[in-house]
Amino acid sequence: MTRKTLKYVLSIVAILLVALTAGVVVASTKTKTELPEYLGSTSCLGCHADKFENWSGSLHATFTQEVKSLAELPGDISTLTPELRAELEKVDVIFHGGRLMSQDLVTGEYKYLGVQYDEATQTYKAFDRKGVSMDATCGGCHAGQRDPVTGLHVEAGIGCESCHGPGKEHILGRGAVDKIWNSVDPTKSCASCHSGYNQAPGASRFPIGYRPGMTLEEVGFVANTFKADGAPVAMHHKGAVPQWQASAHASAALTLNANDHASDRCYECHSTEYVLAEEAGQPFSVKDHPVNDGVTCVTCHDPHGSNVPGQLRKPAEELCASCHTGELGDKETFTAGSTLHHPQAEMLAGKGAIGVTATVGAHTEITCIECHMTGMNHQMKVLKPADVIGTTTKDTCTTCHSNSSPESRDVYLSMWQDSTVGKLAALKADIDVVDAALKANANALTAEVKAKYAAAKTNYTMVDADASKGAHNFEYATKILAAAKKDISAAKAALGK
Ligand code: HEC
Ligand code: HEC
Ligand code: HEC
Ligand code: HEC
Ligand code: HEC
Ligand code: HEC
Ligand code: HEC
Ligand code: HEC
Ligand code: HEC
Repeated sequence: MTRKTLKYVLSIVAILLVALTAGVVVASTKTKTELPEYLGSTSCLGCHADKFENWSGSLHATFTQEVKSLAELPGDISTLTPELRAELEKVDVIFHGGRLMSQDLVTGEYKYLGVQYDEATQTYKAFDRKGVSMDATCGGCHAGQRDPVTGLHVEAGIGCESCHGPGKEHILGRGAVDKIWNSVDPTKSCASCHSGYNQAPGASRFPIGYRPGMTLEEVGFVANTFKADGAPVAMHHKGAVPQWQASAHASAALTLNANDHASDRCYECHSTEYVLAEEAGQPFSVKDHPVNDGVTCVTCHDPHGSNVPGQLRKPAEELCASCHTGELGDKETFTAGSTLHHPQAEMLAGKGAIGVTATVGAHTEITCIECHMTGMNHQMKVLKPADVIGTTTKDTCTTCHSNSSPESRDVYLSMWQDSTVGKLAALKADIDVVDAALKANANALTAEVKAKYAAAKTNYTMVDADASKGAHNFEYATKILAAAKKDISAAKAALGK
């Protein structure tokens, strides 16, 4: 038997099992029906074993978990009172390591038991919300799909079908690709749970009637608001999707689509579909396959889980630096005459400028996300002290410099940025003068002066394109601009300007 056939047989066995179980449950509650639409993640195992295995260890799969036997429960259950023990015997599901629930076989809801586990003390105690439905408040985001006919949860945690939609037709079609939702677009794959609560009075916190592939608008769900200054909403449900939508990452492919000079290679850092195709070693051309996706969630996160915390594809430092780089690579310095783009990684590290000693700055050891994702905000925006003075919001710098006031932090940051912006403007004016002279007479400078001038221009673009206006490594930026000034001034003098 080939591997493919084996996979197929395995999956059919899985379907039959699911169908049988479903049949039994259905018969005991409502009228007997067809194979359910949602089959649960185990039905995918046979054909997508790798995805299944990676996903099983992810928080999506484990946050809300089925309890098959009491032995799987945490802590010591032998000391429970008979009443609490009787409650515990009914357990079907454990939520976030503590809340215990049983599934109501008539309505399908997960309802809290009168007992819960306290992680802090590692003991069981009575719970006063016995009988309250978890589905009404949290289940739409924290539990697996419910079968539309029976109302029963197909699985406890967030499974394949929570993101890919119902699997029945895909499986009956033996892997028909047009019968399963598969998209890198967060607004249609992640938004139903990662947009925060709907805070309208009386409304459901999570979208009802939603399935992957739909937008929230289609089900009339009003996503959580977040503060446009990038400050996180004051609750754990921060809404990564709306924050991301407000970031430049969301429009990264559109930027290129609007750019006449963009070639395929440019999409390497601007499009998720491109990044994933390249990783999989598949050829990809935007001419055959136009994209408007941008840097979406799955550029950075692997929804099927990974060994890196936060389901990241790479450790955060490597991740940001893989695109926010002037592509210095193993070289010691950039090539004189080149125009640099986004050399944030090199600037922070304090290396790459031509003829300038490498310089470790005060923040070289700090990662990008420590300043750009304060409170896990996905807008990637630094909250500058000046933005928050007079408000209760904490600026980015507070995480580490809590002993100073925003006013004093603002003084430093403004000093760094004003000084850098001023020097950049002055150099730009000088560069324009020299370039104009060289345009009129290409031989106006000796080869030696010309070479130094080319290096100085590259150095200038390093500070300019870093775009932090000196904030990433003020000491290094200052040295680079001083070196550039010397050589550009020499060129100007040689021209008699
Ligand atoms: C949190 C949402 C989420 C969950 C859970 C999830 N997926 Fe995906 N899956 C995605 C997204 C988004 C993509 C497209 C991006 C990509 O390829 O990584 C995708 C892509 C895929 C692909 C096609 C791409 C490839 O590499 O072949 C397969 C097959 C797949 N998923 C199967 C599964 C299976 C099986 C499970 C459950 C074991 C699962 N997924 C769970 C979101 C999810
Ligand atoms: C059905 C709701 C739902 C969908 C759809 C969903 N998530 Fe989640 N996600 C959650 C919840 C709830 C958590 C918190 C842990 C848990 O309950 O699983 C979470 C946690 C995460 C985490 C944190 C994991 C960790 O280890 O810290 C990441 C990253 C994430 N989701 C990304 C995504 C992406 C990307 C998508 C879309 C491709 C997506 N999720 C789709 C509900 C969802
Ligand atoms: C609109 C969808 C949604 C609803 C409704 C929802 N959650 Fe969450 N929850 C999430 C997502 C997504 C995460 C993942 C982390 C994040 O985005 O902050 C999460 C994370 C969590 C966490 C882990 C993070 C932490 O702060 O420790 C807990 C605990 C939690 N939720 C509890 C609940 C409870 C209890 C309810 C019901 C009262 C609930 N949630 C309702 C979507 C939701
Ligand atoms: C009978 C085997 C089989 C089963 C069971 C199966 N798939 Fe697939 N699936 C395939 C095949 C074959 C493809 C074609 C792409 C490939 O070669 O990986 C595919 C492709 C996919 C894709 C990518 C679609 C695209 O647009 O390229 C996703 C997503 C996916 N499956 C999810 C699932 C989920 C979720 C389940 C469980 C509900 C599931 N599959 C169960 C065989 C199966
Ligand atoms: C796949 C490549 C890629 C990765 C990975 C990436 N970025 Fe970006 N980033 C971009 C692109 C491309 C843009 C510009 C998009 C545009 O303007 O169209 C951008 C823009 C930004 C901006 C905003 C600039 C602005 O003007 O608003 C910040 C800040 C940023 N990224 C920070 C980060 C951080 C922090 C990380 C790591 C967590 C990261 N990026 C990871 C490609 C990437
Ligand atoms: C190595 C990754 C990478 C590649 C390759 C890349 N970009 Fe970008 N691009 C970025 C990042 C990161 C940003 C955000 C920079 C910032 O805000 O400082 C960006 C921003 C931009 C912007 C908007 C900001 C600006 O500088 O005006 C444009 C336009 C752009 N890129 C065009 C292109 C073109 C055209 C190409 C191909 C010639 C290309 N990019 C190739 C990573 C890349
Ligand atoms: C440019 C890269 C990037 C993009 C794009 C991105 N994330 Fe993240 N995300 C990160 C990083 C880095 C972390 C921090 C992980 C850590 O340190 O544990 C993170 C953390 C998270 C967490 C855990 C937050 C918590 O409170 O623990 C969730 C949930 C999440 N992201 C969801 C999403 C969703 C949904 C999207 C798309 C709307 C998305 N991310 C887009 C880089 C990214
Ligand atoms: C010590 C904090 C800090 C660290 C670490 C840091 N940044 Fe910044 N970054 C800033 C500040 C401050 C600005 C200027 C913001 C402004 O003027 O609005 C900035 C500006 C930027 C910009 C210009 C667009 C914008 O948002 O203004 C990009 C892009 C950027 N940083 C990316 C990165 C990347 C990538 C890394 C990691 C290699 C990184 N940063 C590390 C603080 C930091
Ligand atoms: C993740 C931690 C962290 C964050 C966030 C952070 N810093 Fe720092 N900062 C440090 C460390 C570590 C040092 C070096 C050790 C020292 O001198 O205390 C430092 C040093 C400094 C110094 C003194 C060194 C010098 O060059 O004069 C200033 C000023 C400073 N930071 C300002 C800021 C500002 C402004 C922000 C916000 C944009 C910020 N920092 C964000 C950790 C951080």
